Amino acid sequence: MCAFSAQSTRITIDSDRLSQELETLASFSDSPSPSVTRIVFSESDRRAREYVKGLCREAGLAIHEDAVGNTFARWNGERPEEAAIATGSHIDAIPNAGRYDGTVGVLSGLEAIRALKGCGFSPKRPIELLVFTSEEPTRFGIGCLGSRLLSGNRDPSVDEKLKDKGGLTLCEARKAAGFSSDLRQVLLPRGYYIHFLELHIEQGPLLEQEQLDIGVVTAIAAPASLRITVEGQGGHAGGVLMPGRRDALCAAAEIILAVESSAKSTGSHDTVGTVGVCDVFPAAVNSIPSRVRLEVDLRDIDEQRRETVFRLIRQQCDEISGLRSVGVQIEVVNADAPGECAPEIVDAIESACRTNQLRSRRMVSRAYHDSLFMSRIAPTGMIFIPCRDGVSHRPDEYASSDAISNGTRVLAHVLAELASK
Ligand code: GLV
Ligand code: MN
Ligand code: MN
Repeated sequence: MCAFSAQSTRITIDSDRLSQELETLASFSDSPSPSVTRIVFSESDRRAREYVKGLCREAGLAIHEDAVGNTFARWNGERPEEAAIATGSHIDAIPNAGRYDGTVGVLSGLEAIRALKGCGFSPKRPIELLVFTSEEPTRFGIGCLGSRLLSGNRDPSVDEKLKDKGGLTLCEARKAAGFSSDLRQVLLPRGYYIHFLELHIEQGPLLEQEQLDIGVVTAIAAPASLRITVEGQGGHAGGVLMPGRRDALCAAAEIILAVESSAKSTGSHDTVGTVGVCDVFPAAVNSIPSRVRLEVDLRDIDEQRRETVFRLIRQQCDEISGLRSVGVQIEVVNADAPGECAPEIVDAIESACRTNQLRSRRMVSRAYHDSLFMSRIAPTGMIFIPCRDGVSHRPDEYASSDAISNGTRVLAHVLAELASK
């Protein structure tokens, strides 16, 4: 056993093991390699969960799961009754994704714990590894489902309200996946965590461009998403003449362009707007589209500016509805405030970078993360590592083994620092 000091001990990260585990985790997928598709509560998600839980058990961690499938793997420490320090991320993946988004935060959290155990560190407080359910919004249309629920940022009534494309409610889907207790039990008691840390790929190009090892996140941009339903009139593609048409897809096309122009209108590169889903009904080549459902993602680091863009989109939807005689209904799925990282954790991450001679900079996260909701219940910090060309949500997403190992070392140092108090 070595005497531990977070300042002086060189923590040994087993980067080969970590790369191997990332590769194995990527094999639980519903699309061919190198792409990864792992939608919450699918068979691939179930197998991936089993794999990660097995690794946690091998590391001597005690596991429990809540009613939505958030998974907690605990190292009790010397004072198990005290508030825990947590780290973690997600293992679900959007369709046609890569292998690093979220998974790096989970497996590096586990590796950090194993490395600390390996050098004889004994935490005063418990350290918990968290695997959040459905950080990605693919199945139920809302991101960070698990962390929203455990932090009290979503009412448990979503159990019956949220439905997937096949009409299955969250309640039905989670029960089919084996998570059948009452959703109200997901909310954590106040003060359950004293700190939360998440390691993640940057999902942007800055660290790589500036040849830096670590991004120290200071704030997380404010995300919002809308569901826009356009109701027109269907009919025969040959029989209905052009002047009389109320084509829902033509109206939706104008709405999509309105989202783009509204986001651009702020003149700030911090405002972004995307329509990533367009479902057409009845989707037959010789039938005029009668109904279209759009899913819109809007983000800004300035919440007020994001709200201005939203008003602009709403106005244009009204105009398009009038001009094209279609119904346009807008549902706000979520409109979240930005998150702030805790200054003491920002300092601790920077100090761990100095100790390990890693070059870092402070930055804002433009992507959202479970940290956004964890920051509402506990002082939170995020460690970013570079990813090639800033690419994410694509099969060619890549972070080098060195980059992952650097991030894991910093994570281990900060966990040790915080768990020593
Ligand atoms: C998370 O996946 C995001 O879309 O920011
Ligand atoms: Mn993602
Ligand atoms: Mn992610």
